[in-house]
Amino acid sequence: MNEQTTHAIVAEGLIKRFGDTTALDGVDLAVRRGTVLGLLGPNGAGKTTAVRILATLLKPDAGRASVGGYDVVRDAHQVRRLIGLTGQYASVDETLTGIENLILIGRLLGLSRAEARGRGRELLAEFRLDDAANKPAKAYSGGMRRRLDLAASLVGRPQVLYLDEPTTGLDPRSRNEMWDIVRDLVSDGVTVLLTTQYLEEADLLAEEIVVIDHGRVIATGTPDELKSRVGAQTLAVRPKHAVDAPIVQSIVAQVAGRAPEAQGGLLTVPVTDPAVLPAVVRRLDEAEVPIGELALRGSSLDEVFLALTGHRAEDRTEDQNEPERIPA
Ligand SMILES: Nc1ncnc2c1ncn2[C@@H]1O[C@H](COP(=O)(O)OP(=O)(O)O)[C@@H](O)[C@H]1O
Ligand SMILES: [Mg+2]
Repeated sequence: MNEQTTHAIVAEGLIKRFGDTTALDGVDLAVRRGTVLGLLGPNGAGKTTAVRILATLLKPDAGRASVGGYDVVRDAHQVRRLIGLTGQYASVDETLTGIENLILIGRLLGLSRAEARGRGRELLAEFRLDDAANKPAKAYSGGMRRRLDLAASLVGRPQVLYLDEPTTGLDPRSRNEMWDIVRDLVSDGVTVLLTTQYLEEADLLAEEIVVIDHGRVIATGTPDELKSRVGAQTLAVRPKHAVDAPIVQSIVAQVAGRAPEAQGGLLTVPVTDPAVLPAVVRRLDEAEVPIGELALRGSSLDEVFLALTGHRAEDRTEDQNEPERIPA
């Protein structure tokens, strides 16, 4: 089988510039049918730009991409029939109620009024928004808004769904609900391209992760491959007395097998083996070094970046992305 039959989305060498900014600098990615690809990167990495190109909202300066075998530039019309997009910022009409928003979209997609209402009701029930069906969207909580936004992108039963930072800013409960919804969609056969700034989210949902930074792919692999490369967990140690920093640094480096990063008295190092923690405790105890803080926690995106690139993930962008909707 060639790539077009096994993969719902294929992008090759995508380049996009905005004035002096190179938002995408030759991005390749491929998403297998019926799977989730996590596009992981910090603010300004180029995630939304890639999504907008794949959603036919923006033309690449170079490179090409296809969705369901259709070219995103040449066959934009066919591509639009296959895809749904939930943007980083809610794109529902604030003044309309939940059901009105979904009916409007159904009508734009060519459904009859009755069909649009039926589909709207079905989606509201699925996303536990039936009680709020007749409330204006502006009265919805953040999590409800996101669910309505996602429901809106599903009215046309897309085969391919783009979720651009679907959980950024959500509380943990709403985030979990969103994750459940994504899992359900995938079990129904939908292919999902999900952008995120959270390593944990990509780890939980995606079969494959593409890490981008400054418009370039810096790593690709399954969550396990990436975690074993960069350390899924981070060991953080703070000596009680600053004067002990050098000895703590050397013990941590010996046990973890790489030099820790020092920031404001806190030493951190990515680790793949949880046994590092008790080993460090033992060695510090033997050396009689009092410790102020010691913890093993999930690596942040920042730490993943540091491990992959040697620099921290820096912010490149002001929040300038506009809410958007795919033209019907
Ligand atoms: N319409 C635009 N005009 C000018 N610069 C843009 C535009 N869209 C994005 N950029 C720039 O391109 C880079 C990538 O942005 P974006 O794709 O939004 O990143 P992400 O979604 O990963 O945060 C950033 O430096 C951003 O400032
Ligand atoms: Mg973005």
